[in-house]
This record gives sequence, structure tokens and C-alpha cells, in this order.
Amino acid sequence: MKNIKAIIFDAYGTLFDVNSAAEKCKYKIGDKWEGFANYWRTTQLEYTWLRSLMNRHKDFWQVTEDSLDKSMKVFSINPLMRDELLNLYKVLSSFKEVPEVLKTLKEKKFKLAILSNGTPTLLNELVKSNKLDNIFDDLFSIEQVGIYKPDSKVYDMPIQKYRIKKNEVAFLSANTWDVSGGGNYGFNSIWVNRNNNIFDNLDYKPKNEIKDLSELIKLI
Ligand code: 2OP
Repeated sequence: MKNIKAIIFDAYGTLFDVNSAAEKCKYKIGDKWEGFANYWRTTQLEYTWLRSLMNRHKDFWQVTEDSLDKSMKVFSINPLMRDELLNLYKVLSSFKEVPEVLKTLKEKKFKLAILSNGTPTLLNELVKSNKLDNIFDDLFSIEQVGIYKPDSKVYDMPIQKYRIKKNEVAFLSANTWDVSGGGNYGFNSIWVNRNNNIFDNLDYKPKNEIKDLSELIKLI
């Protein structure tokens, strides 16, 4: 991939493991922990899309709480676990290869940024708790534009800030709909397919699909 001036990462599901909060409580939740975690994530994303379509914005933390409350009822999770799950969600673990890959890319002098639904506070806490605070040039939050991905105003942010062309960006996401959002916008979207998922039919097919970020170095 030539002429890449900025490498931009989605946060939740791409750099940070959204299921790691429920996984850390799996002994209290029991075997249903993974089904619960997946339902919570799907509901959280559905709420972002629906709020954008209804023009009734709430920030990602409020949406995360609202989707948790529904998911706990659906899976009959003890309400006393609410605070523990939310506190863990603020400090989700990065996937194991992430720190090393980011350090290597930083040494190669690429502009590195996060572009996420997360609020500035959430993104700062995620980066700090994973000791990645000296890696990124910017943490772009959708709160700056008041609408969720995949609205084009979100993907516009790094282009406005860095004054570069859309095809000078490599955009990494594990979320297929976000890969299509960035790709349809004009980025070189790369799909981080950690779990052998099937891609969407949303007018975009990524030229590059990687198992995890360690494969990114040879691509760029
Ligand atoms: C993020 O914006 C898509 O939730 C994911 O980080």
C-alpha cells in the first residue's frame, strides 16, 4: 500500500476487546457470559445507528449503559453486577499484538490516530489504562460531529485535521460495517478479521483482510 500518510484505527473491537469486560466476570455470570457479551455489543451498536437515524443523540457511554440495562434483563444477570461490568468496560484490554505493532508504526513516523464512537473521556481512559498514551497523535471522537459512524462527517475529521487525501489514509476496523463506512467514504479500509467472519454486502469489499494487526506492518 503506497502513499499512506496516516494510519487510523477503530477502537472498540479493533484495538480493544469489547468482550473482555464480561469475560472477566464469567465465573459470576456462568456459561451464558459470551452470549450476553455479544448481545450487549450488538444492542449498543444498534442504539448508535437508531439514535443517528432518529436524530436523538446520546453519547457512547449513555448508550453503553442503556444497552447493558436491556441485556442484563434479557440474560437475567444479577443487577448488582452493573457497576462492575461498567467499570471494566472503561478499561477494556487491548488485543495482545496491539502495543508492539503500534510502537513499530510509531517508529516508522506514521501519523497514528483513533477514530471512534467513544467519548473523549472513554478513549483517553482506554488508551491510558493500556499504557498507549504516548502513541497516538489524535483520538478522534464522534462527539466532535454529534453523529455516529458510519456517517461521513465522522470519517471527515482526520481529513480536515491532517489536510491529506482520503486515499492517503489506511483505516483499520474489525467491524465489517465500519470497514464499509470508511471504504465507501474513500479510505483504504483494511478489515481486521480476527474471528473468520463473513463480510457484508454494503457496496464495498476491502482489498486487504488481516487476521490481526501484526500482519499490518508488511502491508504498509
Ligand atoms: C468504535 O467506534 C465501532 O464501536 C466502534 O470504536
